[in-house]
Amino acid sequence: MKEQLQALQEKAIAQIQGAANLQELQDIRVTYLGKKGEVTSLLKGLGKLSPEERPAMGALVNTVRVALEAALDSVQQQMEAAVLAAKLEQETIDITLPGRPVRKGHLHPLTLINEEIEQFFVSMGYAVEEGPEIESDYFNFECLNLAADHPARDMQDSFYITDSVLLRTHTSPVQARTLQRSEKNAPIRMIAPGKVYRWDYDATHSPVFHQVEGLVIDKNITFSDLKGTLELFLKKMFGEDTAVRFRTSFFPFTEPSAEVDISCCMCHGEGCRVCSHTGWLEILGCGMVHPNVLKLNGYDPNEVQGFAFGMGVERIAMLKYGINDLRLFYENDKRFLTQF
Ligand code: PHE
Repeated sequence: MKEQLQALQEKAIAQIQGAANLQELQDIRVTYLGKKGEVTSLLKGLGKLSPEERPAMGALVNTVRVALEAALDSVQQQMEAAVLAAKLEQETIDITLPGRPVRKGHLHPLTLINEEIEQFFVSMGYAVEEGPEIESDYFNFECLNLAADHPARDMQDSFYITDSVLLRTHTSPVQARTLQRSEKNAPIRMIAPGKVYRWDYDATHSPVFHQVEGLVIDKNITFSDLKGTLELFLKKMFGEDTAVRFRTSFFPFTEPSAEVDISCCMCHGEGCRVCSHTGWLEILGCGMVHPNVLKLNGYDPNEVQGFAFGMGVERIAMLKYGINDLRLFYENDKRFLTQF
């Protein structure tokens, strides 16, 4: 009996040490120590022995049970430690690796130019006004001294919605709206940025583009104030050494009117393709507010005077950044956009 038990223990220990994994180990545990296991059966069988034999045999079987339990626990601990080590190895994070850079978005070039323009005029005390893009013929033309039969209405190709409603062709209607909204003859200093619409499409014209309007009204405003303001603005925008010139022109809502040129920022006045070899670039339209515009919008031209100007944001962005096709602004090609 003793030898049999010895053999059982040796066989079991050999199996325990040869177990390939925790599951096999568990199976071995059940085979020997489970409810119906071999060692358990032996313990149960002790009852059939004579009282004299029982203590010695009981002690013997118990030694085997303790030995097997010890062997099982120790191998189980080793296996669990190995499993944990493998898992840690696998999940290791190399904290010395450099992080992936987070790509920051940025503003569209037209937004950048718009903000630069706004910042300049706001710093000079101008308010920022807005008006609707779907505009009445009345505000877009009539209040600006362009009566129904005025030939200058042909100057712009308009998108009409009905006979008397259109997509505004310029930001100038915001002049009329601001004048009408203000108390009679009250001073005004405002800019009006926004989208405008014209029937035109090529490398330098888009059917939708952006303008910034400006209007200043007060007592004793002169053409010198207009010149000084725009010269300061254009030098800020295009650089201190930019030359600015005023050419007489015509707009129905200003008198006198002027177009403003800056020295070409590509060739610095030498003459190149961008400036058609003139050395100058046309940059905006302006003039002294026509007395009729003041009258039509509830102001008294004998009491106050003013100046107005309007500029194209796309054109300024193209010249400032050296962009030769305006359509690039609207195509959302990241290779283009990420340059600014
Ligand atoms: N509204 C004119 C245009 O769109 C520009 C302008 C504005 C001219 C104000 C003079 C005064 O071309």
